[in-house]
Amino acid sequence: MTGKRLRSQAWFGGDGKNAIMYRSWMKNQGMPPDSFDGRPVIGICNTWSELTPCNAHLRDLAERVKRGVYEAGGFPVEFPVMSLGESNLRPTAMLYRNLASMDVEESIRGNPIDGVVLLVGCDKTTPSLLMGAASCDLPTIVLSGGPMLNGRVRGEPVGSGTAVWRYSEDVKAGRMTLKDFMDAEAGMARSAGSCMTMGTASTMASMVEALGVALPENAALPAVDARRGVLAQLTGRRIVDMVHEDQRLSSILIPAAFRNAIRVNGAIGGSTNAVLHLIAIAGRIGVPLSLDDWDTLGRDIPTIVDLQPSGRFLMEEFCYAGGLPVVMKALAKIGKLEGGAPSVTGQSVWENVRQAENFNPEVIRSFDNALTPEGGIAVLRGNLAPNGAVIKPSAATPALMQHRGRAVVFDTIDDYHSRINDPDLDIDESCIMVLRNCGPRGYPGMAEVGNMGLPPKILARGITDMVRISDARMSGTAYGTVVLHVAPEAAAGGPLALVREGDMITLDVAARSLVLEVAEDELEKRRAQWQPMAPPISGYQSLYIQHVMQADRGADFDFLVGCRGADVPAQSH
Ligand code: FES
Ligand code: MG
Repeated sequence: MTGKRLRSQAWFGGDGKNAIMYRSWMKNQGMPPDSFDGRPVIGICNTWSELTPCNAHLRDLAERVKRGVYEAGGFPVEFPVMSLGESNLRPTAMLYRNLASMDVEESIRGNPIDGVVLLVGCDKTTPSLLMGAASCDLPTIVLSGGPMLNGRVRGEPVGSGTAVWRYSEDVKAGRMTLKDFMDAEAGMARSAGSCMTMGTASTMASMVEALGVALPENAALPAVDARRGVLAQLTGRRIVDMVHEDQRLSSILIPAAFRNAIRVNGAIGGSTNAVLHLIAIAGRIGVPLSLDDWDTLGRDIPTIVDLQPSGRFLMEEFCYAGGLPVVMKALAKIGKLEGGAPSVTGQSVWENVRQAENFNPEVIRSFDNALTPEGGIAVLRGNLAPNGAVIKPSAATPALMQHRGRAVVFDTIDDYHSRINDPDLDIDESCIMVLRNCGPRGYPGMAEVGNMGLPPKILARGITDMVRISDARMSGTAYGTVVLHVAPEAAAGGPLALVREGDMITLDVAARSLVLEVAEDELEKRRAQWQPMAPPISGYQSLYIQHVMQADRGADFDFLVGCRGADVPAQSH
C-alpha cells in the first residue's frame, strides 16, 4: 500500500459540494460510505452484448472480477462500452474499432477510476479496448472471455470459421450437400466463448498474454472452464495491487513486449489481423512499431502450435496441452523471448512461464518438428504494394509462394459476387485473383473478404487454392495463398487501382516481392484516368474515411495516435 492519494479522490475525496454530489449519486446503488474512503476504484470495462455472441457471458466474468477486487480491498465499478461483434456487425466490425477505442478512452479518462480491467473476447473487442486504455495509461489488465468448446458435428471436430470456409467450398464443388452444411451450423458454436480456432480472437487473447498485460493462461482456458472464473477473480485481486504499485500500462507495453508478441504470433501461426492491431496499440502507447518489424522479428520463427486454420487442432486441445506459457517457454529456450519483459503479475514474463509443462507435443510441437518452418507474417513490397502487403505463409500453399500469373480483376466485392459463378469467366488456376476497393477507405473499414472463394468451375476440378491479392483483410480463421493489406489501397489511389485484366503479376514470398509487370509510363497514364470512389453513406463513415491511416500504419485514426494520459482537472459542475 503506497498510501498515496489516488486519482478517484479528485472526485470522491473531501467534503466540498462536488465531492458530496459525486458520492451521493453513487450511493443510490447502495454503496457503503467506505467505498469512497480512498481505496482503489476499479473500472471494469465490459464489452458484454447479446449482439456480440462471443462476449455474451462477460457479465458473469465481471461478477467474478468484482469478487477479486473486493477481496483485495478495492471498489469495483462495471461500465459498458461499445461492443464489436464480428459475426453480426456490417459492413465489418473493423470499421468501428477506432470508434470503440474512443468510447473506451473517454470513458476511462472522464470517470473516477484508478485502474481498469478490460473484458474482451471477440476479435475487435481486444484491440479497441487496449488502444483506448493505452491512450489513458492507467494501471490496466486484460481478461479475455476465452474460446468456445470445440465444435463437433457427427462426431467430428469442427473449427469456428475455418469449417465454414471449407464447407462452403465443398458445397460449391459438389463434395457436400447443403443439408449437411446446415446440420453443421448447430454444432459449430455450442458453448459460450469466442472462435476456438487460432483465428483473430484467440490470436489477440494470445497477444495480450504475450505482451504481459493479461495473466498467464488467459489465451486458452475455455470460456466455460471453471478456471476461467478463477482467472477472473485473480485478475480482480491483481488490479488492486497494480493500482497500489502504480504499475501503469506504459511500464508493461514496452518495445520488448511487442517484440515478444510478434515472435509468439509466429509460433502460434496467428492471424494477419494482429499486424494491424499491434501497430495501432503501439502507436497509442508511443512505441515505434512498423510493418517491417513484423517481418524481421517473425521471419525465422517456425509455427509450432498445430491449430486450425494452419494445422489440425482447436483451442481446447491447446489448453489441455498447456497453452501459451508452453509456447513462450519454448521460445525462451531458443533465445527468442525477451524474458525480462515485465508483466501484470509483477513478475517478468520468463518468471511467469518457466514452470510451464507441455502435456501434448502433438498439439504444441517442438521447434525441431515444427508445423511450418516459416511462421510469422511475410511483408511483401514492390510496385504493386509500395508501402507493403502481408501474407501468412503457414496458411498458404508452398507451391504458390512463388508464382507468376495473369490478373483477373474484381473492382469491388459486388463485382466479385456478380461474376465469380459465371462459367464463362476467363480464369484458370494459374491466374491471380485481384480484388480492390476493400481497404480501410474503400469498403470502408477494410473487410475480411481477401480470402475470396475460388470460381466453382475451378473448385469442381479439385483445386483448392489460387493466389489472391487485395487491399482487404482476411478472417484469422481463413487460409490460402492470400496477399492482404496492400498499401496504399486502391481507394487511396494506390497502384492496386491501376491493375487491368490480363496484366501479369509476380509474387515471390521468399524474395518478399509483389510486382505488377507494367511499365511505369503506362501506370502513369492509367493513374491520370483514375477516379476516386463515391462518398460514404453515414456521418461516421465520412469521419472514418477522412482520418483513417493506411494498413501499414495500423488503420488507426491519425488524430488518435499517442498517449494523452488520464488527467481531467475540470469539475463537471
Ligand atoms: Fe467472435 Fe470469432 S466471431 S471471435
Ligand atoms: Mg474474424
